[in-house]
Amino acid sequence: MRLLAAVLALLLWSCHETQPPSSPVVTSPSGKIEVALVQNSSGQAGYVVRYEGRTVIDTSWWGFDFRDLPPLGRGLRLAAIDTAAFDETWEQPWGEQRLIRNHYRELAATFAEQALPQRRFTVRFRVYDDGLGFRFEFPAQAGLDTLVIMDEHTQFQLTGDHTCWWTPGDWDIYEHLYTRSRFSRIDALSKRNHPNLIATYIPFNAVNTPVTMRTDDGLHLAFHEAALTNYPGMTLRVDTARLLMESELVGSDRFGWKALVTLPFHTPWRTIQISPDAAGLLASHLILNLNEPNKLGDVSWVRPMKYNGIWWEMHLGISTWDMASGRHGATTENARRYIDFAAANGLGGVLVEGWNTGWEHWIGFEDREGVFDFVTPYPDYDLEEVVRYARAKGVTLIMHHETSAAPRTYEQQLDTAYALMQRLGLHTVKTGYVGKIIPRGEYHHGQWMVNHYRKVLETAARYQVAVNAHEPIKDTGIRRTYPNALSREGMRGQEFNAWARDGGNPPAHLPTVAFTRMLAGPFDFTPGVFHIKLDPWKPDNQVNTTLAQQLAAYVVIYSPVQMACDLPQHYEGHPAFQFIRDVAVDWEQTRVLGGEVGEYVIIARQERGTDRWFAGALTNEQERRIELAFDFLPSGKSYRAVVYRDADDAHWNDNPTAIEIEERRVDATTVLPVRLAPGGGCAISLFPM
Ligand code: NOJ
Ligand code: CA
Repeated sequence: MRLLAAVLALLLWSCHETQPPSSPVVTSPSGKIEVALVQNSSGQAGYVVRYEGRTVIDTSWWGFDFRDLPPLGRGLRLAAIDTAAFDETWEQPWGEQRLIRNHYRELAATFAEQALPQRRFTVRFRVYDDGLGFRFEFPAQAGLDTLVIMDEHTQFQLTGDHTCWWTPGDWDIYEHLYTRSRFSRIDALSKRNHPNLIATYIPFNAVNTPVTMRTDDGLHLAFHEAALTNYPGMTLRVDTARLLMESELVGSDRFGWKALVTLPFHTPWRTIQISPDAAGLLASHLILNLNEPNKLGDVSWVRPMKYNGIWWEMHLGISTWDMASGRHGATTENARRYIDFAAANGLGGVLVEGWNTGWEHWIGFEDREGVFDFVTPYPDYDLEEVVRYARAKGVTLIMHHETSAAPRTYEQQLDTAYALMQRLGLHTVKTGYVGKIIPRGEYHHGQWMVNHYRKVLETAARYQVAVNAHEPIKDTGIRRTYPNALSREGMRGQEFNAWARDGGNPPAHLPTVAFTRMLAGPFDFTPGVFHIKLDPWKPDNQVNTTLAQQLAAYVVIYSPVQMACDLPQHYEGHPAFQFIRDVAVDWEQTRVLGGEVGEYVIIARQERGTDRWFAGALTNEQERRIELAFDFLPSGKSYRAVVYRDADDAHWNDNPTAIEIEERRVDATTVLPVRLAPGGGCAISLFPM
């Protein structure tokens, strides 16, 4: 059968024109999305994507450049076609949705060079109803064992000058604000030299992924990658005149290449999510589905939780990470205070930053190798005692490993550091990679660092440790395979509101991030600032949302670890804190109720293992009236809804803390009109009656 198909395809393809009507095609299970292979007379191969009959990706070609070998991409002949179909439902050990359907049709096209050395590779497409992924596979073959990849030329030919929400293709950091512009106006180079980024490198007019777009007829597209393993991260280079994007892999100045791989080998999946509306993008599980199943087995030690910590006080400048300042935050006594607060309020974890020696030598130093170790506490911090105290109160400590971007130092200590955690019964670590990578010439998102981040995950798993990485490699759904990949940063978090010299995160930030960065996976944003104006500590900074929006973020943002980041004294006695006490972090199911990229978003989630629901809505600087329909609730059941909404005169700048808390009885037929203040939000707890 397979042979017959191959012969047939070869016959059909003997005519040398682009897109012969009979070119190999694969459609999604419902038929909505169609991918067609194309070839031209110089033997280039590529693809076209259609959605409900309209072309969304026009003829786009593939190719690779290697060191010491001719480029691959011309003179190809289609040697074989394989098709398959797949449908399963799998269960996440923790997540935003317990059961996920993985339903696709697959087409694998194997190409061979007509001329010597007749290299072969396969392009495998998986086409879902919510998008598609494809990857390049290089099977073992004679005369080719190692490939030094200088460039990958994977094209995405757009069909219009779409509206885009993008961040620059920075090789070192994802902590840029999103810009909304037409594709033809993307100007990543204008984002160079950001005043708050220590490590940033933007060599081309390229964007990072996920990048989200809206066509003029309202279709939503998002481009990203899945299962990034032993390969550099992919940025997308932008040709504004031709409306064309092409893969631009993150490189290494140390080696001068993009990737070094050994055959057999395959690239990560290049993904395109397609939805008629913005909400549909958020409901897509394409990225997770394209990853391999759980490799770790039982991960009951990975614990979703809310946490607080010795953290925001450093970002506000009240205390410091280092001890020499005389204002050390991580003292035994201060840790006890946060633990008491966590225990009294049902927060499962306490993060303590600045607990280990070395912080005097943290920022602004070139020679950061060997500065931090991950076992030696400062003398005013009794680690064993803090762990004991926390355990006695039913709270766990979250470890902190700031590597200061010296990954070799960290790798040498991984076993020692995690063995200590194991001995202390600690299962969660927050890591950090602030600064320029040592050795010089490597970038945070290059192949060498991708492999480092993976090594950390794999080693941590052996000690039953889950990782929340800051300054990470972007999320590409690896948590499916390694469910100890708990959460990560990889976007501009709350911390920027405390010190950014560009005014912090604007009110449009979260409604944008929800439809861009969040498509990649969970993120540790650290919501929950109640003391919005940050006075007296940061007179020039503030949080640019209302308090109600801070609450809504616990539902809208998906992360299995959610911080209550503000100082305990700002929560103490505040009625709105009840929402943070109540809100869940692990979910049975998620419903995206509406939204527009950069404007607003409404999400409801059911807690895993209970029949409680939580809903969150938030808006940009536009005031908005929404109708919240509770038809996601099971019919015939009544719920006590506690509604935390912006007061009528609330405003992110003029009156951010004005909040109303109301209770009412709702059921599946209830429709609640809600007003969101400029920069505002609404959070609702739903308890079955
Ligand atoms: C950057 C992280 O994003 C932040 O949360 C942390 O406090 C500092 N690094 C120190 O590790
Ligand atoms: Ca950061």
